[in-house]
Amino acid sequence: MPLNMHALGRPIGPFKRDYTWKDAVLYALGVGAGFSELDYCYEKNLKIIPSFAMAMIFDVLSQATINAGVDLAGVLHGEQELIFHNSIPSEGTLITTGKVVDYYDKGKAKGALVVIESETHHGNGQKLFTSIATVFSRLDGGFGGKDRKSVPVEFPSRIPDFVVDATPSPDQPLIYRLSGDVFHLHVDPQFAAMAGFERPIMHGLCTHGFACRALLSALTPGHPEKVRRLTCRFSKALYPGIPIQTQIWKIGEGKALWRTVATDTDQVIIDKGEFEYGNTPQDEIRFDDRVAIVTGAGAGLGRIYALELARRGARVVVNDLGGARDGAGKGSASPADAVVAEIRTHGGQAVASYASVATAEGGESIVKTALDAFGTVDILINNAGILRDKSFIKLDPQDWQAVVDVHLNGAYNVSRPAFAVMKAKRYGRIIMTTSAAGLYGNFGQTHYAAAKMGLVGLMNTLKLEGERYGIKVNAVAPVAASRFTADVMPPEVLERSRPEFVAPLVLYLCSDRCSPNGDIFNAAMGYYSRVAVVTAPVRMLARPGEVPTPEAIMANITAISDLADGKTYPGADAFIGDLLVPPSALDQPARPADSKVQTSVEAVFLAMPGTFVAEAAAGVDVVFQYRIDGAGEWFCTIKDATCTVSAGQHPQPTCTFNIAAGDFLKLVSGELPAMQAFSFGKLKIEGDLMKSQLVERLFRRA
Ligand code: NAI
Repeated sequence: MPLNMHALGRPIGPFKRDYTWKDAVLYALGVGAGFSELDYCYEKNLKIIPSFAMAMIFDVLSQATINAGVDLAGVLHGEQELIFHNSIPSEGTLITTGKVVDYYDKGKAKGALVVIESETHHGNGQKLFTSIATVFSRLDGGFGGKDRKSVPVEFPSRIPDFVVDATPSPDQPLIYRLSGDVFHLHVDPQFAAMAGFERPIMHGLCTHGFACRALLSALTPGHPEKVRRLTCRFSKALYPGIPIQTQIWKIGEGKALWRTVATDTDQVIIDKGEFEYGNTPQDEIRFDDRVAIVTGAGAGLGRIYALELARRGARVVVNDLGGARDGAGKGSASPADAVVAEIRTHGGQAVASYASVATAEGGESIVKTALDAFGTVDILINNAGILRDKSFIKLDPQDWQAVVDVHLNGAYNVSRPAFAVMKAKRYGRIIMTTSAAGLYGNFGQTHYAAAKMGLVGLMNTLKLEGERYGIKVNAVAPVAASRFTADVMPPEVLERSRPEFVAPLVLYLCSDRCSPNGDIFNAAMGYYSRVAVVTAPVRMLARPGEVPTPEAIMANITAISDLADGKTYPGADAFIGDLLVPPSALDQPARPADSKVQTSVEAVFLAMPGTFVAEAAAGVDVVFQYRIDGAGEWFCTIKDATCTVSAGQHPQPTCTFNIAAGDFLKLVSGELPAMQAFSFGKLKIEGDLMKSQLVERLFRRA
């Protein structure tokens, strides 16, 4: 039977395998561990030998091999690569999905290679390991496929840095097979004879386990969790009871090459081994203690966000109304339920919510679902959306309202109750889903574009209100293949636009590693870019106080529009701060205080009672403390409509003004407006900020 090319890329699984410490110990015994490595054999503080991974995914590899249509009479395990993402817990459920990722043709005489990739997650959602297995099929060569050149592994010419000897027991395969691989070749003398062997042979993966123990003892003693990658090629069969030696060369920080030989003949049993080790990557983004709400998560982008968040440990509320693309229809529970089921199959945690984001009650109910099921909300992705494209004239109020209700009002309806929870816990991440249509415009989408740009406005202010509570709000403009775009993008563009390309950016923005706040990003097809509202340098076209003519605007429109040297503003305050002072005066350093300046500062305070406006001071009882950098301290006491000024420090000032001497003189002369001084950090105010503003009212300019 020829190889089955249809298996290429087809998902296999998920395969679920429950295991306890007894499975891990049985494996350890099967690969030769004993009292000298009690950590692997005793349930108290049990440590797992990383190669245990192979015993746990045996079924997946078998199934993939069968699916690939390989002639089982000629099958050998050729090469194996294991990449470890997290250490394997001592018990639980392992969930593995796999697929055939390639076929190679070594020629009729030599055979074929089938490459099978799988990923295994723990039931707690943590990704544990990736396996890339190459199955060598002696009888399937010559099918006309491409060949693969093997990657050379050059062992150093020096003697190995470590050698670890071991002698598997003559009965070793009888124990090892209990971990899953019960193939007759390793137990039945007659079967072994038929296959051309003197007697049953060791499982290649059993010798692999011996080698893994050897590597652990030489390079990461006591720390199996530090193993990051283990690869090798199986080259020869080995009989049980034959002594073996694992030879190890360190070739760099956290890297080694290895092979295992039969000690009596020096024949290489496992070759081209690579071993990488070190601390767990600190940069992995996880959501283990986080609860996420994803609206519109029954399909398209939202579904992928929900799956990816759950994969990385988040507990997820999968919200979806289940309506038609234009929002029509009664809705259906099935899209949300299907995604919840998908997450649970992979061992993650999720609940469904069928409420509509388009009403305040719907928003409350979605957040309540999170609170009831998981007790909190850390992450909200406002993603639900509908489309009703029509040119502006044809757009009736119902269409306008429906689109604005789902996109803009929907984000308000869910964000508000979620924000309250986040504010109380002083942590949160909110994503707004904007769109290129809003950012740049798109024919037939005035309502959609308005709503999508409205979300940017909502974000711009919510980021300011949230930042002091650890809440970050960002916006993402995706382009992705979904029912939104199924009939507007050509198939080749759809193919390149899988929603999976958008998810990494969204997940980063949802994580506690997220640094942006209030930013907008495009994400599509593996491309990512920030989008910003950029303001050209402000230009004054007349003398201060004079209104310029329209003709002056016309004459200068190019300069006004020139975005070179433009800037983005973190908030409206900062922009207004720039307007309060001619640009040329910005950032001028304060004059250094000298004795002349000091004399002037003193003169200001001495003159201060003379500028006091007693009639504005009814009921006012304050002490203004001035700390003038480079010119000493004064305080001004206002009580019973009188003003007294003294040098020095008051024990209990109402508020304290901190300012450099030069800036203080500019401030009192009116050259430096108070708000601009404050916005640019030249004037710092401690204490009662509200009462500090009385200064303007209580004193005339000298
Ligand atoms: P989709 O149609 O596959 O997913 C949207 C989901 O939202 C649907 O499952 C739908 O049932 C759900 N939904 C609709 N109204 C709802 C409501 N009132 N309450 C709860 N759920 C509701 O579309 P896709 O492409 O995944 O869109 C997701 C978001 O991305 C939308 O906000 C869309 O505007 C935005 N977007 C998508 C682009 C794309 O290229 N696919 C481009 C730009 C923005």
